[in-house]
Amino acid sequence: MTSQATGQARARELDAQDPLAHFRDEFWIPPHADQGEQRYFCGNSLGLQPRRLSAFIEEELSHWQTLGVAGHFTGRRPWMSYHESLREPLADLVGAKPAEVVAMNALTVNLHLLMVSFFQPAGARNRIVIERQPFPSDRYAVESQLRYHGLNPDECLIELGADSDERLVGEAELEAYLAAEGDRVALVLWPGVQYATGQRYDLARVAQAAQAAGAMVGFDLAHAVGNVPVDLHASGADFAAWCSYKYMNSGAGSVAGAFVHERHHGREDLPRLHGWWGAHPDSRFLMAPEFVPAPGADAWLQSNSPILSMAPLRVSLDLFREAGFDRLREKSLAMTAYLESLLTEELGDWVSILTPSDPEQRGCQLSFTLRAGAEQGRALFEHLIAEGYIGDWREPDIIRVAPVPLYNRYQDCLDLVNEIKVWRDRR
Ligand SMILES: Cc1ncc(COP(=O)(O)O)c(C=O)c1O
Repeated sequence: MTSQATGQARARELDAQDPLAHFRDEFWIPPHADQGEQRYFCGNSLGLQPRRLSAFIEEELSHWQTLGVAGHFTGRRPWMSYHESLREPLADLVGAKPAEVVAMNALTVNLHLLMVSFFQPAGARNRIVIERQPFPSDRYAVESQLRYHGLNPDECLIELGADSDERLVGEAELEAYLAAEGDRVALVLWPGVQYATGQRYDLARVAQAAQAAGAMVGFDLAHAVGNVPVDLHASGADFAAWCSYKYMNSGAGSVAGAFVHERHHGREDLPRLHGWWGAHPDSRFLMAPEFVPAPGADAWLQSNSPILSMAPLRVSLDLFREAGFDRLREKSLAMTAYLESLLTEELGDWVSILTPSDPEQRGCQLSFTLRAGAEQGRALFEHLIAEGYIGDWREPDIIRVAPVPLYNRYQDCLDLVNEIKVWRDRR
């Protein structure tokens, strides 16, 4: 245990040495009552608003005011091709070829659209494999896809690890299941980072296991994109989808992303739902009845671009480029390790961290429970919120906190742990 003064000096020193510290000034940090800023640890749920965003949105509003429909073709970023301007930076961030990614819709919608193509049950190969306790929207999506195909989720939805008390499900368990039952599996839908535990998966290993069994594999990257390195193309994944309001700081419900591996581009045997923006750009305005698909992942597009929801993503991608993802990951590893060491050194007999301790198996989120139980955990969580320490609570007993390298400070982590100690010592 370090003394208060040494701890404070160490946090100050780490912040002073942080080459990315100035990026915090790019964000609005929500105020806490009359006492300065919140200690915001909730970028895993909703990222903070970039300060430069208002001007970007204002610019689009002004184009609309002054150009009307001509804004589709003129202005700094014509709306007709707005989504195309996001393609390269988005591809960089998820390790894809530009033609493999597209910004569209919302996450659950994209999972459905992609499952239309990549969940093709045939005879006994009719199961979907998911991890223990996935995010409810994913469960609803796969259950409804199974029912849509006339299948019974009680028989065809396999939730790996559901019968164990162990909260982490490893790649080895998936491999073992697929080795034994793989010929019954049509699709593996797996997280990049598990939302409740913060466990990060090796995408290539998951994809390899699924495909060796003859199954398709898709990833929900909601908690991975902008948080951990992602190498979608090399992983061999068939498809992936993610949202942009968490680590991508693009605002609630902002436009999501989708990835389709290039080996599936242009395949005429794949079922796919069509809309006019998925048509080839050369044919979109011919008003012709026949659908000529756009090249690459764009063929999965449905509708014209929601510009006011894409502008935040544009801003966010700029910030990621400016900071450099490798540098962000480096800071993320250091800051999460710092928070972990404070939690274990100062509160180790009192909290239990669920997130793997191997830095390669996690992003910035740490999930923990209180050894005293869920009721005490909930009371602590509410105390923290009241004091301006914003994490989140996930039933039945998990507190999640995510020090985000773009805007969190080492000092935030130290203050959080000190506040938990204050609460504990009052018990
Ligand atoms: C892992 C995961 N999947 C799916 C969703 C649902 O996302 P959306 O509401 O954008 O469809 C979320 C939302 O937080 C999530 O965390």
